[in-house]
Amino acid sequence: MRKKIVAGNWKMNLDLDEGAELVNEIFKGLPVLSENCQVVIAPPFIHLKETGEQLTGMIDVHLGAQNCHHESSGAYTGEVSAGMLKSAGVEYVIIGHSERREYMKEDDAMLAKKVNQALTNGLKVIFCCGEPLEIRDNNTQNTYVESEIKAGLFHLSEKQLNNIVLAYEPIWAIGTGRTATSEQAQDMHAHIRSVIANQYGEDAAYAISILYGGSCKPSNADELFACPDVDGGLIGGAALKAKDFLGIIEAMANS
Ligand code: PGA
Repeated sequence: MRKKIVAGNWKMNLDLDEGAELVNEIFKGLPVLSENCQVVIAPPFIHLKETGEQLTGMIDVHLGAQNCHHESSGAYTGEVSAGMLKSAGVEYVIIGHSERREYMKEDDAMLAKKVNQALTNGLKVIFCCGEPLEIRDNNTQNTYVESEIKAGLFHLSEKQLNNIVLAYEPIWAIGTGRTATSEQAQDMHAHIRSVIANQYGEDAAYAISILYGGSCKPSNADELFACPDVDGGLIGGAALKAKDFLGIIEAMANS
């Protein structure tokens, strides 16, 4: 059975005290999860050590980072390598988030290198894809998302794919309060699974977890997670409030 995952992406929010408090609250409210359910918390880099310590003993909650560099080391002021993340106890890294594609000009070639760095250093990757509004309006979202997946991941072996989680995040739904309908999410997730099946076979496609991201909250998580190809969520804004994040975790546990 493939994994269900709810991952919280804090983005550039919360200072150290606020982050520690949030993790504490999540710890207190965390429901008992079945073996195929996982929670990931991806705070900013400076939190990783402390958040990791707080997570010790919480077997269902895993530490994630929001980015890694595409080279292993060197003169890259301000950057953090995948190996450094691994040494800080990180298990997952988010790669290809639309905010980094747009604001940091991360292109397909760079993202493929980042994926390699992450896997070489023993990290699992949450690889994001998703179309902007004009592509959705043209109804060309399927080919757009397919090309992001091909460029970022198709150089990998089937074995390497075991360490990849996909996150479909329509850009028009991120932080906008406008969520994809469960039908739009299901259609795209099924398409993504067929793209994986064509390249890696049905078994690999069946096994890979595909998360939905974009204004996911407790009030819509039940419906989204009920879709057969939606295996959880990548959560931004609602991951910053324990009550909301726990509500989404509950929705995963009940799905
Ligand atoms: P949002 O962000 O939940 O605030 O829309 C999702 C994301 O960017 O991962």
